[in-house]
Amino acid sequence: MSDLDLRRLPKHVAIIPDGNGRWAKLRSEERTLGHVRGTTNVKEIVTFAKELGIQVLTIYAFSDENWQRPLQEVGILMDLLKQYLIEERETILKNKIQLRAMGTIDRLPAPVLEELKKTIELSSQNQEMILNFAVSYGSRSEIIQAIQKISQDVLKGKFPPEKIDSALLSQYLYTKDLPDPDLLIRTSGEMRISNFLLWQMAYTELYVTPTLWPDFSREEFVKALLEYQTRKRRFGLTEEQTLSHGCDTH
Ligand code: IPE
Ligand code: IPE
Ligand code: MG
Repeated sequence: MSDLDLRRLPKHVAIIPDGNGRWAKLRSEERTLGHVRGTTNVKEIVTFAKELGIQVLTIYAFSDENWQRPLQEVGILMDLLKQYLIEERETILKNKIQLRAMGTIDRLPAPVLEELKKTIELSSQNQEMILNFAVSYGSRSEIIQAIQKISQDVLKGKFPPEKIDSALLSQYLYTKDLPDPDLLIRTSGEMRISNFLLWQMAYTELYVTPTLWPDFSREEFVKALLEYQTRKRRFGLTEEQTLSHGCDTH
């Protein structure tokens, strides 16, 4: 595993696993096959992240905007999610992984939601790694919901508007008890965020690879982590400041 420093791994890695459709198209196959291979790869990368000792892995499984895809494709993605949850339950529990989900999950078809809630519940005490699925997730709707709840609490007299700061807003997001992502990996080359963790990624290191998600292997993951370890995180300070403060920048 070349010179990866396992003591300086990102605590929280977020992934936008993009490119399933293009992977299939390159092979003159249906998009479905790309999603099937993509799902298999999620299993592989989750297992590997756990082996490496990543503490939090957030995967963008389905966005708010993805609901607007053709009905048939949405159906296939939902079926694959359900299948994944059933097939991986044992592995998740055996590996002491804690499954979480963030998004408007009530929009999911009942059988999918049922499997999701089951694994979340069964794994809730696990401490080895948090696997956080963003499903039916959009960062803008997350922030809007937070603003609505904050406004209600202000109206109830819980705190005055002046008390609203970034720490308070963070407490109203799905990620309230998670550290911000240290590293974002996006596959398939798109240089965009696509409504993912807009607030939480203020200082996240970005890594984009042209590799399509079904081809994103363990080696590719290590490459992303190695690149992360070369980054100098400054959080707005000068390099001298980060050195003299002895900042743990990783
Ligand atoms: C990512 O692959 C999977 C989901 C969005 C659920 P895509 O389906 O977006 O694949 P491309 O971007 O069309 O290649
Ligand atoms: C982002 O991919 C969402 C997921 C991977 C679930 P998209 O394929 O939906 O993003 P855009 O449309 O290329 O921005
Ligand atoms: Mg895409």
